[in-house]
Amino acid sequence: MKTLNRRQAINRIIGISTAAAGGALIANPVIAAVTNVSGDWKLEVGTRLAYSKLDPMVVAKRAYETGNGCMFQVFDSIIQSLAESDSVDADKFAQVPTAMAHYGYAGMLGEGTVCGNINATGMLVNLLSINGESANAVLSQTMRFYESETLPFQTAEFIEGIGADMTETLAQVGKPTAANSTLCHSSISLWASENGKSFSEKGMRCKQLSASVVYELVTMLNNAFDGETVNDHPVSEATQDCQGCHTSSSTFAPSVQTNMSCNTCHGGH
Ligand code: HEC
Ligand code: HEC
Repeated sequence: MKTLNRRQAINRIIGISTAAAGGALIANPVIAAVTNVSGDWKLEVGTRLAYSKLDPMVVAKRAYETGNGCMFQVFDSIIQSLAESDSVDADKFAQVPTAMAHYGYAGMLGEGTVCGNINATGMLVNLLSINGESANAVLSQTMRFYESETLPFQTAEFIEGIGADMTETLAQVGKPTAANSTLCHSSISLWASENGKSFSEKGMRCKQLSASVVYELVTMLNNAFDGETVNDHPVSEATQDCQGCHTSSSTFAPSVQTNMSCNTCHGGH
């Protein structure tokens, strides 16, 4: 091992290069962070925290009660539940800044693009490990579920489970609908059109939709944790048919990398 002089050693300890050191060293707040044992950990690209089983209905209820938009509801309810779980990484989950997920409401700050429920799921699974394995495959399953399932769940058990009122739900949510795509826009507009409502009346419907996605997502994560192959929501046969020729590496047909339902946007040919 090379002997470090005092200056190099300090730089090594506080994690800055010699070039960045110098006069600013004394006032550098990084020093305080390093000496603080609990503040030592930092989420980095590639970090995965250990998932531990959660009760899907309890987390769905928590999501329903959490405000600040669908992406935050989904991300925060699951991360906070894991922070309180018996996961070996519970204290790390507690340090994940869930407020970062706020931007995802109404398809990203109201742009109506990718639904915040989906966006949250991607953000979540990318930092989870399930018994040491990546949880990423659960995103596609959640997207296919979101595209094809009639949502929000409206069974008596579910409405009661999340602590909602059935009479109010019938009036404000009305008839549940399928989104046909992963877009916030199609999800809300198809629901609004079916129920003669406008975007501004989506509050309860979208909160229940997030609770439904959380319920399904936690159920799938639990199944994966139990060692089951999670394949409840596979890519549809119609889409697989298109993918028979349109692969990402195809040159004989235009190259395509997506599992979205092709038929929503393209006719056959
Ligand atoms: C048997 C192989 C095959 C299958 C299956 C297939 N495609 Fe194609 N696709 C092609 C080829 C080859 C082209 C380029 C030549 C052409 O224009 O026909 C193409 C072109 C396209 C284009 C470019 C515009 C156009 O129409 O030419 C779109 C969009 C497309 N395919 C979508 C789809 C969708 C959606 C499906 C499933 C419903 C699908 N394809 C299934 C081979 C296929
Ligand atoms: C959310 C809508 C959407 C979905 C879902 C979607 N596409 Fe597309 N796709 C588009 C748009 C928009 C374009 C660009 C069309 C243009 O500008 O002509 C495009 C382009 C393409 C092209 C190249 C078109 C060309 O003229 O060469 C192919 C091929 C294609 N898509 C196939 C697919 C397949 C296969 C799937 C399903 C696995 C799929 N798409 C799903 C919207 C979508």
